[in-house]
Amino acid sequence: MALQTRVKITKTADLGEGIFELVFSCPVMAESARPGQFVNVYCDDASRMLPRPISICELPGDGQIRLVYRVVGAGTKELAGKHPGDGITVLGPLGNGYPFEGKRAVLLGGGVGIPPLLELEKQIGIPAAAFLGYRSDKTFLLDDFRKYGAVYVSSDDGSIGVKGTVITALERAVSDGFSLEGAVLYACGPGPMLKGVKAFTENNGLTAYISLEERMACGIGACLGCVCKTMEVNGHSGVKNARVCKDGPVFDAREVDLS
Ligand SMILES: Cc1cc2nc3c(=O)[nH]c(=O)nc-3n(C[C@H](O)[C@H](O)[C@H](O)COP(=O)(O)OP(=O)(O)OC[C@H]3O[C@@H](n4cnc5c(N)ncnc54)[C@H](O)[C@@H]3O)c2cc1C
Ligand code: FES
Repeated sequence: MALQTRVKITKTADLGEGIFELVFSCPVMAESARPGQFVNVYCDDASRMLPRPISICELPGDGQIRLVYRVVGAGTKELAGKHPGDGITVLGPLGNGYPFEGKRAVLLGGGVGIPPLLELEKQIGIPAAAFLGYRSDKTFLLDDFRKYGAVYVSSDDGSIGVKGTVITALERAVSDGFSLEGAVLYACGPGPMLKGVKAFTENNGLTAYISLEERMACGIGACLGCVCKTMEVNGHSGVKNARVCKDGPVFDAREVDLS
């Protein structure tokens, strides 16, 4: 059950290159939150009415919720100016989260799609490998992922790891003997990366759960502001679409039309 409340920030950190971390305390929200869900963060500046959806990166314990985000516009800039002890208004947890399936998990995160995979890797309870894609060698959360399993890095400019996307890195690992037997893919990242994940799973007969990003308004399924195209007619809307905030943000890659 989503809760809207004012919470106290307990930690902030500048992770470099426009990426920031914010931890807040909310035991009730943390208790019911699942990997892959997100929270809506409200701006204090009333001119920015729409909340900003940010994935839950980690549930560090003691009722804390950790967010990791990139500053891209006015809302995230306001957030980056916050300090421990400050308050923020949040609504969450929202969305469905990742299911736990398979004998092995292959996590694929690109850019700010990396954060939600951390809590998933902590909780999933099967062997997991993380393929993390960055723009350059300015990485974040690498050491956090290394605590829980093997990590394969790629970068757009080739300055760290394999040059290319997480799919390039996965294909390289497979040709080097990385086994996909019993594997389920869990992905979050930019649209082109998710298209690549969908194509990879279709070509290899695998299942992938992908987390989609859409501009949102209500965040609770009421306004239809965040629909994505689906392959089948949706039970709620009666047409071939689904609400990313409520039916997702995580979908079986076979169910969504990313064309
Ligand atoms: C389910 C979900 C989870 C997300 N998780 C993360 C995360 O963990 N870390 C992270 O860095 N970013 C995440 N994002 C993207 C984040 O919501 C946007 O970067 C943020 O809303 C930008 O707000 P802004 O005011 O700084 O930018 P502006 O461009 O000024 O925003 C203007 C409006 O557009 C919306 N908007 C802008 N970019 C996006 C976007 N990419 N997706 C959705 N709405 C957008 C804003 O919410 C706002 O309403 C997530 C988005 C979704 C939908
Ligand atoms: S944001 Fe309103 S239905 Fe998704």
